[in-house]
Amino acid sequence: MSKSLIEMLPDVISHGKREVEKISQCLKISLETNEYILPAEKNDKNTNWFNRLIHGDNLFAMRALLNGDSDTGLPSLRGKIDLIYIDPPFDSKADYQRKITLPDGDIETITLKQFAYSDIWVDGTIGYLKTLYPRLVLMKELLSERGSIYVHCDWHAGHYLKIILDDIFGKENFVNEIVWSYKSGGVSKNTFARKHDTIFFYKKNPNKAIFNVLKEKSYNRGLKPYRFKGVEEFEDDFGWYTLVNCKDVWDIDMVGRSSGERVDYATQKPEKLLERIIMASTYSDSIVADFFGGSGTTAVVAEKLGRRWITSDVGWPSCVIMRKRLIDIPECRPFICNSINKDCSLDRMPQICDNNSFPKLAVKKPTVTRAYDDTHETLNIELDNYLLPDNLPLDTKSNTVVQKIMKKSPLDMIEYWSVDPDYNGQNFRSIWQNYRGNTRKGKNLLRVIHDAHIVVQKTHRPRKICIKAIDIFGFESMTVLDLP
Ligand SMILES: C[S@@+](CC[C@H](N)C(=O)[O-])C[C@H]1O[C@@H](n2cnc3c(N)ncnc32)[C@H](O)[C@@H]1O
Repeated sequence: MSKSLIEMLPDVISHGKREVEKISQCLKISLETNEYILPAEKNDKNTNWFNRLIHGDNLFAMRALLNGDSDTGLPSLRGKIDLIYIDPPFDSKADYQRKITLPDGDIETITLKQFAYSDIWVDGTIGYLKTLYPRLVLMKELLSERGSIYVHCDWHAGHYLKIILDDIFGKENFVNEIVWSYKSGGVSKNTFARKHDTIFFYKKNPNKAIFNVLKEKSYNRGLKPYRFKGVEEFEDDFGWYTLVNCKDVWDIDMVGRSSGERVDYATQKPEKLLERIIMASTYSDSIVADFFGGSGTTAVVAEKLGRRWITSDVGWPSCVIMRKRLIDIPECRPFICNSINKDCSLDRMPQICDNNSFPKLAVKKPTVTRAYDDTHETLNIELDNYLLPDNLPLDTKSNTVVQKIMKKSPLDMIEYWSVDPDYNGQNFRSIWQNYRGNTRKGKNLLRVIHDAHIVVQKTHRPRKICIKAIDIFGFESMTVLDLP
């Protein structure tokens, strides 16, 4: 007779501890800087800090953060992170997709479905728990003494995950089982409609952890105010209410089809959910991390609330969506796009072609024109063409669509491009970015614009202009042009 899940939990723990042991020896795992994104051309001058979007398996990303990154002046983050929220796959035994809408001529559009991530595990739930265990241990190492962790899960494996979390963070440090309840989905003929997820909340050290009491509205049943002495009452469109301490059951709508937040990434969570968590468990100087970033909700909310943040994801569709969603935020602070030192990366970046001349981005010869005064000039950069190999790993229908677009307007394949007008040959620092729509919707946002006009300070030195592009499949290309 095969063993039950409970009987196999000791295996999960011993396997997890061995994995931690192994990864702890990897002092060479490091972060590689792909791009400094400088959307608002400003940085917090007082600190060396950059927010980070890391593409790669989070086991390696966290190990690299524990090691620190001397190239970019990042010290070890051991014991430095105040809040970790994670929303890992739930052991739902399904694959998840991202929708890509492409222009098909001037009026029509066409939608492709692209693999985003898998939630199917070798060895089922045990394989799932074995994957999470060492990652949770590294999260504990990164948490500060005033830190908290929120682990988002659901009925599939949540009960087993709770046991694992108790083992790692201590049962005595468990604070709340938050029920996130929503209206959509979950209806079945054979079960009660499944309308909630669970978020387990632990403090690293209950005596030191940050916790800001949040208030929520509690509506009076009748229309009239209670008029209790000392209790302040308010009225809105729904009636009279008082403010009470936030409960552990949160009614927050999922991101709906017509929501401005929606980026068409399966399992995207609402910003309101993260707002609550970040407001409760951070101060303004806190670092917030989400190592299963997905569409980037945690980083986006942290950015909007002025917190420092780190996010990672193993999938490149996720990373490109996050990058665009972050730049969309007005006044988004600069951030670094990292990948993991290649020897260690297990990411799912598709390898389609041995011939490294593909993909190829062709850019016209840049021109220089007058800017608004004598000390500045305008660099005019125009994309010319884009080449992809024929043997893309796509199903027949998608391949036909892609080949058709490639024949007519190959630049429509570009998802994102950016420019560093003063490339130093090492660090790509983009001060200009353009990308297909994300949170900004509309037909004319289905393709990138093809020309950039960038105002820069005049220089007497020759200039190197570096242009990077990422296409809808996640392939990157880079072109460096000399401007004498
Ligand atoms: C449920 S989604 C997260 C959704 C996210 N909370 C949001 O609001 O969009 C889980 C994410 O975990 C990522 N993931 C799975 N295993 C990972 C790993 N080992 N390292 C990094 N990311 C991983 C998947 O690619 C997926 O994007």
